[in-house]
Amino acid sequence: MEQTEVVKPETLDELIAILHKIFESDTINVEEVQNIMESYESKPHEWTKYAKFDQYRYTRNLVDEGNGKFNLMILCWGEGHGSSIHDHTDSHCFLKLLQGQLKETLFDWPDRKSHGDMVQKSQRILQENKVAYINDSIGLHRVENVSHTECAASLHLYSPPFETCQTFDQRTGHKNTVKMTFWSKYGERTPYTTISQENN
Ligand SMILES: [Fe+2]
Repeated sequence: MEQTEVVKPETLDELIAILHKIFESDTINVEEVQNIMESYESKPHEWTKYAKFDQYRYTRNLVDEGNGKFNLMILCWGEGHGSSIHDHTDSHCFLKLLQGQLKETLFDWPDRKSHGDMVQKSQRILQENKVAYINDSIGLHRVENVSHTECAASLHLYSPPFETCQTFDQRTGHKNTVKMTFWSKYGERTPYTTISQENN
């Protein structure tokens, strides 16, 4: 288990154990994390206990706190659910599709002087088991389950962990800071305190 980059995790628990080992180091090799997350083949029975859907919007469900080095969570997207345009608070963001498909739209950071529509850089459909990566130097993104018949579930790793991010109005580029909450933690529904504003 020394050469973590060649180990293929057979289960979600194995993947988590390998991630703990990789993140013991202070320097993160993005490609290594991406490869290891991609090499895990999603098996729904291993993660359905975390996958709690809501009728109205997507949910964030904490799976593991990564010894304080990262947060691992499963986002559950009902039909037509999507995020706002958001940043990643200077963290690494890895996103693996566990089930279904998601559309990712990349945007440039809004110019201080520009007041019009935000500039859309690219768009792609993320397929099952694939891993996307983003950070603030790449830009901003919006993630959506555009399907009207299939739900989607995605595994997200954020390092270092963060609790707030900025969301952006596509028409004006105006930004807001939002606090993110968990719909559930370790498979247990989180007590409801404030209106949640999931965005990442
Ligand atoms: Fe994101």
